[in-house]
Amino acid sequence: MERTLTIIKPDGVEKNVIGEIIRRYEEKGLRVVALKRIKQTKDEAMGFYIVHKDRPFYDSLTDFMSEGPIVVIVLEGEGAIAKVREIMGATNPEEAAPGTIRADFAANIERNTVHGSDSPESAEYEINYYFSQLEICG
Ligand code: RTP
Ligand code: MG
Repeated sequence: MERTLTIIKPDGVEKNVIGEIIRRYEEKGLRVVALKRIKQTKDEAMGFYIVHKDRPFYDSLTDFMSEGPIVVIVLEGEGAIAKVREIMGATNPEEAAPGTIRADFAANIERNTVHGSDSPESAEYEINYYFSQLEICG
């Protein structure tokens, strides 16, 4: 069993597709083991995306990720990290496969509706960034 962090980004919450996105994960056998809706500050978004601190899009990305509420979710399942990234689709919605979340809901490469951890190491950092042990129960 593997765990991963997924985020419904501010554009996804604004579009009112929280339920639809969670349904797609559940349909593929993933299970929600922790979930909350929060509005983070710019500093909190910067801490979450610290791996991207030297990228040209860091400032704009962290403005976006703190502009409105997000839903942070821990999903559990076999191969959860890869499975979530497959269900999300490519970062750029123009390159995302048909039927993926980003193909269906993302506006552009930045406002791309969802986040998913990209490795076991990032999943551990990201889950611990938003959740305490007490909030996660399998
Ligand atoms: P994520 O981390 O959100 O799951 O997305 P990802 O792995 O597919 O993409 P990543 O390279 O980690 O980039 C993180 C987020 O930064 C925004 N981005 N903007 N303007 C740009 O060229 C650009 N590139 C990336 C996106 O919101 C992306 O999801
Ligand atoms: Mg990433």
